[in-house]
Amino acid sequence: MLSRSFLATEDWTDEAIVALLDEAAALKADPRIPPKLHGKTLALIFFDPSLRTRTSFEVAIAKEGGHAVVLEPGKGSWAIETRRGVVMDGDKVEHMIEAARVLGRYVDALGVRSFPKESSWVEARRDAVVRGFAEHAGVPVINLESARRHPCQGLADAMTLRERLGRDLARKRFVLTWAWHPKALPVAVPSSAAIVAATVGMDVTIAHPPGFELDADDLVMVKTIAARRGGRVEVVHDLDAAVEGAHAVYAKSWGSLGAFGDAPREAELRQGLKYWIVDEDRMRSTDGGGGIFMHCLPVRRGVEVTDGVLDGAWSAAVDEAENRLHVQRALLRRLLGGSA
Ligand code: CP
Repeated sequence: MLSRSFLATEDWTDEAIVALLDEAAALKADPRIPPKLHGKTLALIFFDPSLRTRTSFEVAIAKEGGHAVVLEPGKGSWAIETRRGVVMDGDKVEHMIEAARVLGRYVDALGVRSFPKESSWVEARRDAVVRGFAEHAGVPVINLESARRHPCQGLADAMTLRERLGRDLARKRFVLTWAWHPKALPVAVPSSAAIVAATVGMDVTIAHPPGFELDADDLVMVKTIAARRGGRVEVVHDLDAAVEGAHAVYAKSWGSLGAFGDAPREAELRQGLKYWIVDEDRMRSTDGGGGIFMHCLPVRRGVEVTDGVLDGAWSAAVDEAENRLHVQRALLRRLLGGSA
C-alpha cells in the first residue's frame, strides 16, 4: 500500500509534484471549483503537537465535503506501542499494527505525525511509525511529519516559491540556513525543503555550522534531484556569504545528527552560534535586497529570525502556512478523488 501513500515528495515523480502544485494554485485562485470528496473520511493521528498541520488538514477535507477524525494517542485514545516484537507489559495498551488495521477499516486515508523518539539516528531515520502505519492500514497514509520528512510542508514551500519568484525557478538561488535555537529540532523540514527546492529546479545552498550536516543519504538525494533538474547544490559554513544575492532564505534550526540523543554534546556544539540568525542586514544582502524569507513555523522570534524580518515585506512565512491548506486539498483530491 506504500505506493498509494504520500510519505515523501521524492516518492512521487517530478511531474506528479508539479501537477499537485498546479492543482493547489487553481484551488487557491478559484473558490468555485466544486468539492470532490463527499463522504470521504480521514483519520489524523498526532503523536506530537501541531497548529498548522492539524487545522489545515481538518479544513482541507471539510472544504472538499469530507470529514476528519483527530486522534492523539494517550490523550483520549489509547496509548499506542510502536515498537515491533515487544512484550506489551508497560503502559501502552494497543499496538500500532492493530490501530492501523482498525482505522483502515473506518476511513479512506490516515495521516500520521510522529517525531523521533529513538536515542540513535540510525534507528530514528527509519521513520518506523509512519511507515508502519502505511504497511498495515490498507489505505493511503500521509506523512504529517516524521523524523526524516515533512512532505506536506515541502509542497507548501514549493507552492510559495512559485508564487513569490515565478514558475520558472531555474537558476534561482535557494538558501537553506541552520539557525540557532535552544533545543535540538528534527531535520525533517530542512531536508524536505532542500529536496523540493531541487525538485522545482533551483540552485540550492545549504548553510550550517560544522557538525550540523544533514543526513548523508538525504544530501545525496538533494544532489541527485538537482542534477536531474539542472540545478546545483553547495554546502557552506558562512551564513553571510550564503545569503548574498539569494532569491530565497529558508531558516530552520535542526539538531546535530552526530550528537543525536546526546543533549550535553548538542549544547556544547551550539555554544557561540547565536549569530546564526536571519536579520535585516542579511536580508538586505539578498537579491536586490528583496529576497524572500521562509520558515515553516512555529518560529521563535529573536532567536531564529528578527522581528524586523518576520514583520517585513521579505517574509513569506504566513503564505507558506496558508498554502498548506491548498496543497493538502490538492493532495487529498489526488489520493481519494480519483484524479490521475
Ligand atoms: N509547520 C508545521 O508543520 O506546523 P505545525 O507543527 O503547527 O503543524
